[in-house]
Amino acid sequence: MFGVGLLSKTQMDNTCEAHLGVLCFLGMLLIMPSSCQDDLDAATSGSAVYIVTLRQAPISHYQDELTRVGNHFRHGASGRTRFQKPRHQNVTKTDNRHGFNIAQVHDSLLKKVFKGEKYIKLYSYHYLINGFSVLVTQQQAERLSRRREVSNVVLDFSVRTATTHTPQFLGLPQGAWFQSGGFETAGEGITIAFVDTGIDPTHPSFSDNDKSEHPFQVSPHFSGTCEVTPDFPSGSCNRKLVGARHFAASLITRGMFDSTEDCASPFDGDGHGTNIASIAAGNHGTPVVVAGHYFGNASGMAPRSHIAVYKALYKEFGGFAADVVAAIDQAAQDKVDIICLSITPNRLPSGIATFFNPIDMALLSATKAGIFVVQAAGNTGPSPMSMSSFSPWIFTIGATSHDRVYRNSIFLGNNVTILGVGLAPGTSENTMYKLIHAHHALNNDITVDDDMYVGECQDASKFNKDLVQGNLLMCSYTVRFVLGLSSINQAIETAMNLSAAGVVFPMNPSVDGFQLNPTPMKMPGIIIPFANDSKILLEYYNSSLEKDATSKKIVKLGAVASINGGFTESYSNVAPKVMYYSARGPDPENSIPNEADILKPNLVAPGSFIWAAWSSVATDSDEFLGENFAMMSGTSMAAPHVAGLAALIKQKFPNLSPAAIGSALSTTASLYDNSAKPIMAQRSYASPDLNQSPATPFDMGSGFVNATAALNPGLLFDSSYDDYMSFLCGINGSASAVLSYTGQNCLVFNSTEYGSDLNLPSITIARLNQSRVVQRTIQNIAESETYSVGWSSPYGVSVKVTPTRFSIDKGETQVLSVIFNATTNSSIASFGRIGLFGNQGHVVNIPVSIIVKISL
Ligand SMILES: *[C@@H]1O[C@H](CO)[C@@H](O)[C@H](O)[C@H]1NC(C)=O
Ligand SMILES: *[C@@H]1O[C@H](CO)[C@@H](O)[C@H](O)[C@H]1NC(C)=O
Ligand SMILES: *[C@@H]1O[C@H](CO)[C@@H](O)[C@H](O)[C@H]1NC(C)=O
Ligand SMILES: *[C@@H]1O[C@H](CO)[C@@H](O)[C@H](O)[C@H]1NC(C)=O
Ligand SMILES: *[C@@H]1O[C@H](CO)[C@@H](O)[C@H](O)[C@H]1NC(C)=O
Ligand SMILES: *[C@@H]1O[C@H](CO)[C@@H](O)[C@H](O)[C@H]1NC(C)=O
Ligand SMILES: *[C@@H]1O[C@H](CO)[C@@H](O)[C@H](O)[C@H]1NC(C)=O
Ligand SMILES: *[C@@H]1O[C@H](CO)[C@@H](O)[C@H](O)[C@H]1NC(C)=O
Ligand SMILES: *[C@@H]1O[C@H](CO)[C@@H](O)[C@H](O)[C@H]1NC(C)=O
Ligand SMILES: *[C@@H]1O[C@H](CO)[C@@H](O)[C@H](O)[C@H]1NC(C)=O
Ligand SMILES: *[C@@H]1O[C@H](CO)[C@@H](O)[C@H](O)[C@H]1NC(C)=O
Ligand SMILES: *[C@@H]1O[C@H](CO)[C@@H](O)[C@H](O)[C@H]1NC(C)=O
Repeated sequence: MFGVGLLSKTQMDNTCEAHLGVLCFLGMLLIMPSSCQDDLDAATSGSAVYIVTLRQAPISHYQDELTRVGNHFRHGASGRTRFQKPRHQNVTKTDNRHGFNIAQVHDSLLKKVFKGEKYIKLYSYHYLINGFSVLVTQQQAERLSRRREVSNVVLDFSVRTATTHTPQFLGLPQGAWFQSGGFETAGEGITIAFVDTGIDPTHPSFSDNDKSEHPFQVSPHFSGTCEVTPDFPSGSCNRKLVGARHFAASLITRGMFDSTEDCASPFDGDGHGTNIASIAAGNHGTPVVVAGHYFGNASGMAPRSHIAVYKALYKEFGGFAADVVAAIDQAAQDKVDIICLSITPNRLPSGIATFFNPIDMALLSATKAGIFVVQAAGNTGPSPMSMSSFSPWIFTIGATSHDRVYRNSIFLGNNVTILGVGLAPGTSENTMYKLIHAHHALNNDITVDDDMYVGECQDASKFNKDLVQGNLLMCSYTVRFVLGLSSINQAIETAMNLSAAGVVFPMNPSVDGFQLNPTPMKMPGIIIPFANDSKILLEYYNSSLEKDATSKKIVKLGAVASINGGFTESYSNVAPKVMYYSARGPDPENSIPNEADILKPNLVAPGSFIWAAWSSVATDSDEFLGENFAMMSGTSMAAPHVAGLAALIKQKFPNLSPAAIGSALSTTASLYDNSAKPIMAQRSYASPDLNQSPATPFDMGSGFVNATAALNPGLLFDSSYDDYMSFLCGINGSASAVLSYTGQNCLVFNSTEYGSDLNLPSITIARLNQSRVVQRTIQNIAESETYSVGWSSPYGVSVKVTPTRFSIDKGETQVLSVIFNATTNSSIASFGRIGLFGNQGHVVNIPVSIIVKISL
């Protein structure tokens, strides 16, 4: 197993490719040590799991038809400007019976095709997709695919699991929470589904034992259930945590489920699922205590929303698409409002277009059922087109920094102060301690030649306690820490065993430039994160040594220092800034790869150094082992911020379609950081702060989420399921893929649309050959307002928007026409912006991105 630690995901993937030549498909979007899941897709003894879709439509489509008829919803182009009501009906016996019938149909089909042969059916999918997953041989799969009833057979693929302050940074207490009646009601009535590694139900972030005047309500339309198992006992669920199930059939069938490693229950043995659920919807006012220190109170973005957990990813090895699709199907059937996915493919799905993969297709059906889907962009940045989330019906979130920093420092006897990282206490005030390097503190019988890693302080028995006691022990932070082979915790234990006063970790030059997570330490400690600063420390130490002139033995350690604690936060960071690991656009349309006419990511949100709930038995992080909270980084942490904020929008505007919720979040996003300068984007994983430039829409989408403004967007851009179908049908050669995944024929959809014609709150044109006219339709949900239109043209393009001024009443729609003319030949992406400025204060931002330009 190869630990990747803080290396970028891109690098890890290259490692997989170069050395192993195997598939590393979906990744956990957390910047943490983890391992490649390389051999997972190998078929077990000639058999493999296949995901099979049938021609007949799934239940959600029937229900949709019924609802449409009942509510007089109309199909077609007019669907753009209408806001679909969420179709939250009570689950009736009929639904369940229908599901049961579909499962019987699947069984009898399998029986008919495989008379007397061996096969194992894992799941019947009946809600979003009419199909099943089954373990069969390749020959059996081919026979299945030749059946008339069967439209699609694909091989299952492996997936891997990729706050105390962010509510303030996002301005929630005075802004979005204030507007929704305070944190006591923020997000009430909304259920958010998490398809992840499960949840720790005992965590105070998920308790409904609220002593306030306003007790938790029952989730109004949610119809899911909670599994009961020994490690997820009855009573684990409550009015906060309303549903919890697990999906592991694909894993189990392959013999890859290890019950000593993880639980066959919704319980989170990993930590990741607990973490993201609490970021979106953890209780308000939950004290964060880590390494014995109180860091403030945590709160989710929508602290009153309900949580429904669909565990489909497992500790260490991740999971499989067959299980993820089953989880999504169940969540939709349970009538959740929002699905949050902090998992994405690390590898582009093959085939006609990236959009046609079982997970995105299940999510398209979920969107049709009125569910807003948020997905992490992936940690595959910062190179262009590193995007790991593809489809226009999915709201894709990149990660930024936020303004809080925990800064500690070491003050040397020569009056030099060096800054460091580490969530650790300081040494006693006004006292200087002797510094001793690990190499100078060894037992008599140990030399560096015996143990070349002894400088990493992983074993107390190698050291002479008399030399270390009461002093600051210096241990070398090498790449082995990054790889998970050595750990800070182990070095701290060594120092404690030796009664050291503290630990100092100078950085080995091999690790220079990597961003280090602040690590909690139970004693005074500091990591010097840069090789140049570490050199200054070591030179001071070196120059203070007194050696015997003849024997060269050290006779005196002269260096002294004191550590200034790192528990005190300061809010001095220039933020937000797009993190180096956050995946970038353009959106790959296929694995060639060509660029899609779709903007990705959609938005950025805080994702680095986020305090959130942790399962105390979780083993995913050595630093936070045994803790109830952990500070994590990744696009995994950014997505649930937006899922929680979407719950606040849904609470305020229950009738908005998923596309309209995405529009409200997009058009109101901020473009500036807290120093009033354009938001910056890091562009390299080594020394990221030295390699940054202003963020483009391919770095940050529409910008940084502004929750206050998103609750009052003024104008909305809407798209319906039919629009997405037209988009899919417009992809050259896609008709058979559309038919096999959705059962619908492209002849009934307008397939002359480009992606840029989708009514998104952005315009992306991958290839502008001379000229293009693009239209957008907007609807006003605020009072009457007069807007003036302004724009900046991308380099090499002239732009004209009409009208340049319009008045719009509440509920009315307005069409904007945008003409683009190429004025130069260029294949370098260039960016512009269209702004609609209302006289009542609404500002609507539409990012414009044009890649290839071909002029006359
Ligand atoms: C769901 O059931 C409840 C109680 O039976 C009822 O009050 C409510 O109107 C139903 N909702 C829908 C959408 O049918
Ligand atoms: C943090 O939460 C605890 C318990 O919920 C509460 O007693 C305390 O007042 C809170 N502290 C702050 C600073 O909000
Ligand atoms: C450090 O600063 C103090 C006070 O400013 C001064 O007395 C002392 O000589 C300085 N030491 C060195 C090594 O520069
Ligand atoms: C610290 O001491 C304990 C008890 O003597 C021992 O079990 C442990 O391995 C030691 N830790 C290290 C890092 O040497
Ligand atoms: C060391 O390098 C870092 C980043 O490269 C820089 O911020 C810091 O100022 C440097 N320190 C010194 C003493 O030059
Ligand atoms: C420390 O000094 C010795 C010679 O006195 C030298 O060989 C060594 O490279 C120095 N180390 C550092 C880190 O400066
Ligand atoms: C967020 O939106 C609100 C309301 O429109 C505005 O007052 C605030 O300045 C915005 N914040 C940022 C950081 O742009
Ligand atoms: C569609 O694809 C086919 C085959 O790849 C190609 O021959 C044709 O020119 C393409 N059509 C367009 C409009 O790009
Ligand atoms: C199909 O879409 C194109 C481009 O948006 C539009 O010009 C055309 O009128 C549409 N056709 C139909 C039948 O809706
Ligand atoms: C641009 O479009 C024209 C037709 O309008 C076509 O003849 C030409 O080949 C296209 N150029 C490129 C580079 O695709
Ligand atoms: C684009 O080009 C067309 C034809 O050359 C011209 O009529 C039109 O005015 C141009 N529009 C802009 C915005 O430059
Ligand atoms: C752009 O390239 C096309 C050929 O692809 C050529 O016909 C045209 O003259 C070029 N335009 C400019 C402004 O160089």
